Amino acid sequence: MKFNRIISTLIAVSLAAVLASCAAKGDNPGREYAPNMYHSVAYEPLSQITDEDAGAWVNALDNRSGEYFNSNRYNPHRMNMREPAPNTVKRNKYGWLPYRISKDSLDYASKVLKNPFDSAASVLDEGKVLYETYCKHCHGAKGEGDGKVATGVTIDGVQKSQVGGVANLKSDALKNISEGHIFHVITQGKGLMGSHGGQINPDERWKIAKYVKTLQK
Ligand code: HEC
Repeated sequence: MKFNRIISTLIAVSLAAVLASCAAKGDNPGREYAPNMYHSVAYEPLSQITDEDAGAWVNALDNRSGEYFNSNRYNPHRMNMREPAPNTVKRNKYGWLPYRISKDSLDYASKVLKNPFDSAASVLDEGKVLYETYCKHCHGAKGEGDGKVATGVTIDGVQKSQVGGVANLKSDALKNISEGHIFHVITQGKGLMGSHGGQINPDERWKIAKYVKTLQK
């Protein structure tokens, strides 16, 4: 009986010691197993570690900066890669990343996307020209869904090009949509309306959105 108690006390004490040794503190690396598997020591363009103390506890470097510190202080933004050459074509003005909001996330897009342009006359003028180039033939000059593609035209007695269900942008359901909503619909399309992301760049889409809001008033 007594022996059993000694054994269990011993087990409890060593368990506590083992568990306590898991915490990282000071020179103690904690319970990270094979850290080279988590922290790349190699220079990687998109996963650099910018904290100079990171990995200082296994430091073999003379300058005392952490072993896993692998950002490059001589490059812009301390990146490991060089900045792309000037005039490299960006995906859009807002960055090198593609548009990531999926087609069916319209609600989300309409909340988070904000128009970077104000309602300056020049913006609206440009928006109008763009709208009349890309949207008017379906949505109509005033946005009422009565463009020639929607109503159809009759040429030599033959009814041509008719797309059904073109939205009336002034309808109760749509007159209060946000500019982000319009931006997203232009970018991804919706229902019978195809995506226009390939032919209208983001700035132009925002200008169109501004103009559509004036039509809706
Ligand atoms: C080929 C005809 C066509 C063209 C061109 C077109 N649209 Fe549409 N648009 C539609 C149709 C059809 C719908 C209805 C889509 C649905 O809900 O099925 C629609 C719907 C919309 C809606 C409402 C989306 C919603 O939430 O219900 C907006 C906003 C819109 N279009 C804006 C534009 C703008 C801005 C342009 C110009 C860049 C444009 N459209 C160009 C046919 C077109």
